[in-house]
Amino acid sequence: MPNITFSNPTYRDKTVYAVSGSHTDTVLKIARENHIPINFNCADGECGTCIVKVTSLSDKPRMGGFLTEKEKVVLKEHGKLSGEELERAEVGDQPPTWRLACQMIVRDEDILVEYT
Ligand code: FES
Repeated sequence: MPNITFSNPTYRDKTVYAVSGSHTDTVLKIARENHIPINFNCADGECGTCIVKVTSLSDKPRMGGFLTEKEKVVLKEHGKLSGEELERAEVGDQPPTWRLACQMIVRDEDILVEYT
């Protein structure tokens, strides 16, 4: 199961272990359960408040992940998803660096989630 390290310039980094059954959990849900203060508003992929930067903490390539239509629109609106990145995600199954914490489902990989 994955380790998720949440990082913010103001707070000490916190690594949480996503337990079995968390494959339907979003990054935001896991953050809230572990008292990680990621900002959010709608929790429904519409406002962009919860944008986070996600990178791998292992030497394996990141696992692909489904982007909802709402997430694609919001990330584009905030300048966090280029056409090339979208194509890599949809065709090459390579996830973009920026995600909505309320939409990203945790996969079985160790990741760094940077939030502001
Ligand atoms: Fe609004 Fe995630 S909280 S898009």
